[in-house]
Amino acid sequence: MTTPWELPRMPAGFIWGAATAAYQIEGAVAEDGRGESIWDTFCRRPGAVADATSGAVACDSYHRWRDDVRLLDDLGLDAYRFSVAWPRVMPAGRGTVNRAGLDYYDRLVDALCERGIRPFVTLYHWDLPQALEDAGGWRVRDTAEHFADYAGVVASRLGDRVRDWITLNEPYCSSIVGYAEGRHAPGVTEGHGALAAAHHLLVGHGRAVAALRATRPGTRVGITLNLSPAVPASDTAADRAAAKRMDLMVNRQFTDPVLGGAYPEGFDRLYAGVSDLSFRRAGDLELIGAPLDFLGVNYYYRIHAADAPYEQPDPALRSAYDIGVRSVPRDGVPVTDLGWPIEPHGLYETLTGLVGRYPGLPPVYVTENGVAQLREDPGADPERIHFIAEHLAAAARAAADAPLDLRGYFYWSLIDNFEWARGYGPRFGLAHVDYPTGTRTPRASYHWLRERLSDRAAAG
Ligand code: NOJ
Repeated sequence: MTTPWELPRMPAGFIWGAATAAYQIEGAVAEDGRGESIWDTFCRRPGAVADATSGAVACDSYHRWRDDVRLLDDLGLDAYRFSVAWPRVMPAGRGTVNRAGLDYYDRLVDALCERGIRPFVTLYHWDLPQALEDAGGWRVRDTAEHFADYAGVVASRLGDRVRDWITLNEPYCSSIVGYAEGRHAPGVTEGHGALAAAHHLLVGHGRAVAALRATRPGTRVGITLNLSPAVPASDTAADRAAAKRMDLMVNRQFTDPVLGGAYPEGFDRLYAGVSDLSFRRAGDLELIGAPLDFLGVNYYYRIHAADAPYEQPDPALRSAYDIGVRSVPRDGVPVTDLGWPIEPHGLYETLTGLVGRYPGLPPVYVTENGVAQLREDPGADPERIHFIAEHLAAAARAAADAPLDLRGYFYWSLIDNFEWARGYGPRFGLAHVDYPTGTRTPRASYHWLRERLSDRAAAG
């Protein structure tokens, strides 16, 4: 029997990792020929980021990447999930390739491989080159084509050492949160634009899968989706219907096409105002639904859905997002400092739910799971230890109960970083970052995990 504070027994070959993303850690936004991304632009907009900051310096990982690799190595992790910044590699998003940008990732990958740390590379973690947004962004199909070209360029350079590729991170956020809610870059509130963006992201995913496989036969390719079980806030028929709508929008808008080759039943009626779906073309769903080598799941919380107009305090963000569902707090459920319900069982439901719904589900990695604290404390973080242990236990139960090929778990995040529209307040890191100096200090959770991983290594 394990206590909640121990690591559960995981399937043989299980990968332990940590994750980050380029714009959240790198800084150096104007160095070595990097182009602007939509997040550089968005952060300059007054009110867009809670503490009026940006990723301009962040954790300075562009210069301090050796510190990050050392942290990974000392912790004893098997893998590191990081993202490549598209505007570093192709400053205008297409055409000219910036060799200096690729050199940065080349050095990082070498350092990881020297230490036996397996790189998992995300190609798109939200930093669209601004030049492409100026040409329509994800609303237009061309962006999907440019994404595939970029994927091929990165694979040509790194694919001799990187075997594991993630095309997109959380396309729900890049489309709905960015183009409908407007809380993320590019910060617009459109209905049609958001749905077109979601579709074109998926087309870009499909094209990138093909480009990666063509460039490097034998690569393993997946996509990372943020999945949140949507449960009715009460037992009324109205709340049950609201939970269903939420599930369609957050989860099945992406899982159904990617894993089942079709949009879910009822999805097209969700956004009443959007009738022109001509951005969907013949052949798209075959491309989007091409079999994957793995699925990445980011799990943070369950959504308690109530039938009510979506509440948007800022009237400027009037919300094309309004599908008549509000996410409400649930009595008795503890929350993180960000107000996110802590329900490890939701990870169990997510994983077993995928098995139930999608025959032929590929191997799964939990590519993100983590907890933020809002206090500065660089040391003690018992809540994080508890959070990790409980979520791992839920994942282990899912792998034991369902025919699920669970291959690994990546904690979000290795280090504190720029939490998008929330700025630097939320601290997700296993290591604390002192932003003025860039110093990384491992927290208690880091030491806890390190001891558990070395016990595991000693036990063989
Ligand atoms: C998901 C995103 O992929 C990541 O960028 C973000 O920081 C974490 N969730 C925490 O919100």
